[in-house]
Amino acid sequence: MDIFRTKSISEYMSDASKTHFNKALGPLDVVFMGVGIIVGTGIFVLPGVAAAKYAGPALMLSFVLASLACGFVSLLYSEMASSMPVAGSSYAYAYASVGEILAWLVGWNLVLEYTVGASAVAGGWSAYVTGVLKSAGILLPDALTKVPADGGIMNLPAILITLFLTVLLIRGVRESTMVNRILVAVKLLAIFLFLFLAAPHVDVTNFEPFMPFGWAGVSAGAAVIIFGYLGFDAISTAAEETKHPEHDMPIGIIGSLLICTLLYVAVTAVMTGNVPYTELDNAEPVAFTLRELGYRFGSAVVGTGAIAGLTTVLLNMIYAQTRAFFAMSRDGLFPKGICALSPRFATPYRITIIVGAVVAFCSGFTPINILAEMCSVGTLFAFIVASIGAAVMRRKYPTAHRAFRCPAIDLIAVLAVVSCGYIMYNLSSMTWVRFWIWSAIGLVIYYAYGRTHSRLQTGEDLEVK
Ligand code: ALA
Repeated sequence: MDIFRTKSISEYMSDASKTHFNKALGPLDVVFMGVGIIVGTGIFVLPGVAAAKYAGPALMLSFVLASLACGFVSLLYSEMASSMPVAGSSYAYAYASVGEILAWLVGWNLVLEYTVGASAVAGGWSAYVTGVLKSAGILLPDALTKVPADGGIMNLPAILITLFLTVLLIRGVRESTMVNRILVAVKLLAIFLFLFLAAPHVDVTNFEPFMPFGWAGVSAGAAVIIFGYLGFDAISTAAEETKHPEHDMPIGIIGSLLICTLLYVAVTAVMTGNVPYTELDNAEPVAFTLRELGYRFGSAVVGTGAIAGLTTVLLNMIYAQTRAFFAMSRDGLFPKGICALSPRFATPYRITIIVGAVVAFCSGFTPINILAEMCSVGTLFAFIVASIGAAVMRRKYPTAHRAFRCPAIDLIAVLAVVSCGYIMYNLSSMTWVRFWIWSAIGLVIYYAYGRTHSRLQTGEDLEVK
């Protein structure tokens, strides 16, 4: 049995043509989806702690460092998504290039990115809602807003928002994208309002010292805020629901990453230029900065925008996980019944329910910081394998149609692997331990189930849905 067997691009395209998703998304939807899934805790929550504890005002450089790594990866993903527009993203690219067992490990680590990441975001959402309600005089009891490790019983708002969004996703991509568009627009307006109000007050003396923790601090900061960029890869999971994926995928992936990088660096510069970095150690640094400047109403508006922003991230992460699982079950590496689309809504409703339930559970009972770090390590691993896969794919399928070709692909692949590896290296040792345990569990499942049920092993045809 060959654990490095590959599934060819043409097999993938043939499977995709037998699965009838709604092809409803255009290029703007894809960019909106990108901004929807990327801009969240990375701008509204994490910069505070990252500036105060790791990078100081040089957090701007951490964002640039992380964006370089993601930029290299995004070029490679754009090429793969344009030549193989299927739902599986990194997992499918690895399957077509470096082989089944690595593809499975990538897919298994995508669970960390999407499901565990979504759980962290739901926790952040709950924190913002609790904060906004508190400033409006409505106090929610700690027992129902905190996880057991923080002294509560469960994080109920996180559970409820997750279940609500799960229902939206089951109802289909059209309704969900409409909600998504509105929420993304609110989120962007909130960020622009912040920049508009706070930028004129920047005091350059706050940039001194610029790098209080040296380069090590900048790197450690990048390892924390890389979570803020995660999600651009998830755009490619919507390839089968996009009208012209060969063109729209590169536009969506590269375009949304560029927009997000500009926003992140601008917000960080304005934030650290207004408030000494030592005072930013809180979970709502954007709203905090405005309050420090005396804009109480502006702060409340931006807080509401943050809630909208976190909602879109959560919505899109659950969506992306269902499509990644969908792709794995279609290949036989997961039980086939999970592959079924709802006859009424044409969405993979069973996977959506399962993912929604797991996200609700994790967010209800696990601390955010553990979830966020696990998300980053799993995603960076997937980036590294898929980046190697991109270079392999060029050689393996030299004549495949590529609407987008990554320039100097070998060099870009090396740069992607080195930069992602460097950021991974800066994650905490406990995160690494959890990552190895998670991967070991994944390997056991592969040997117990996937290896023998893989459609490349059974030779089974895909049932037409
Ligand atoms: N990039 C996403 C966020 O920052 C995961 O919330």
